[in-house]
Amino acid sequence: MAVDEKAKLAAFEERIANGEKIEPKDWMPERYRKQLIRMISQHAHSELVGMLPEGNWITRAPSLRRKLTLLAKVQDEAGHGLYLYCAAETLGIDRDEMTEQLLSGKAKYSSIFNYPTLTWADIGTIGWLVDGAAIVNQTMLAKCSYGPYARANLRICKEENFHKRQGYEIISIMANGTDAQRRMVQDAVDRWWWPSLMMFGPPDTNSPNTEELMRWKVKLKSNDDLRQRFVNLTVPQARAVNVTLPDPDLKYNEETRNWEFGEIDWDEFYAVIKGHGPMNRERLEARRSAEERGQWVREAARAYAAKKQAKEVA
Ligand code: 3HC
Repeated sequence: MAVDEKAKLAAFEERIANGEKIEPKDWMPERYRKQLIRMISQHAHSELVGMLPEGNWITRAPSLRRKLTLLAKVQDEAGHGLYLYCAAETLGIDRDEMTEQLLSGKAKYSSIFNYPTLTWADIGTIGWLVDGAAIVNQTMLAKCSYGPYARANLRICKEENFHKRQGYEIISIMANGTDAQRRMVQDAVDRWWWPSLMMFGPPDTNSPNTEELMRWKVKLKSNDDLRQRFVNLTVPQARAVNVTLPDPDLKYNEETRNWEFGEIDWDEFYAVIKGHGPMNRERLEARRSAEERGQWVREAARAYAAKKQAKEVA
């Protein structure tokens, strides 16, 4: 590394150590830029793909009120995708390129969205567990060192809090409802619990990116620390509505003040992120089809913008 580069890196790391935010026009190491593009674009793709399992229930919501709240939630996810694509664009990549990476399988999206939504209770469970897990992860990212990503997460977390409350409300009503509703809730929680824990990523001992991301304060807590925080928060919530979490090894450790939990099936996690989960093919196919069907809208918008600009110049 040239002397000049070394000095720039030292100054950059000092800014981070002092808790300063890095902004788009500031100098940053190429590796920091690449890591952020990887993370932010994956996060953006997760928001868009995450609209699919829930969108599946908009027409079948059990009441008008539920339909409106679900519709609003799914729209919020699209908005989160937009904030995040914009945050990634500040790093010098454009949205078309990110979309191409998603559709070609080069970029990942969250493992959680490769599971099907079989009943209405799945919608409540996603709000409670999946949005709950996302909040634990993203509250930390809202304090990360890259300004645009931190600010996007701040706003996202405010909206995710509504989603989580909506989900937990659905679960608590159904869990106190008929036997059939209670069974439906328990079945949904049994299916979503372990995949929700997998959202936090592989164990720290097998997480190649964590060390670097924590050094640069992109991640402020490790995958395992956030997963533990989520379990600690969620166990009392499950008890409050008489739902059983499907883990016979869950037990409270008085000394560490943590809820210890059983072994996660990491083979399942790696299979899902390699494209072999129950819904991977359908999810990518839906995004491909949306991209094709939206082509004419983008062309029309570009033509309109070009015409408007030509008029302004004339
Ligand atoms: N799903 C898919 N891939 C995952 C994953 C998951 N749950 N967890 C980890 N991976 C991938 C990583 O992307 C990495 O692959 P890559 O190098 O090819 O990109 C590999 O597994 C190794 O994992 P690491 O722990 O080394 O990766 P990270 O340090 O980047 O940590 C992360 C993974 C915790 C997911 C982190 O990237 C992160 O916090 N990302 C931003 C938040 C995000 O993407 N959230 C999506 C949640 S869904 C959501 O918010 C929608 C809302 O509506 C609910």
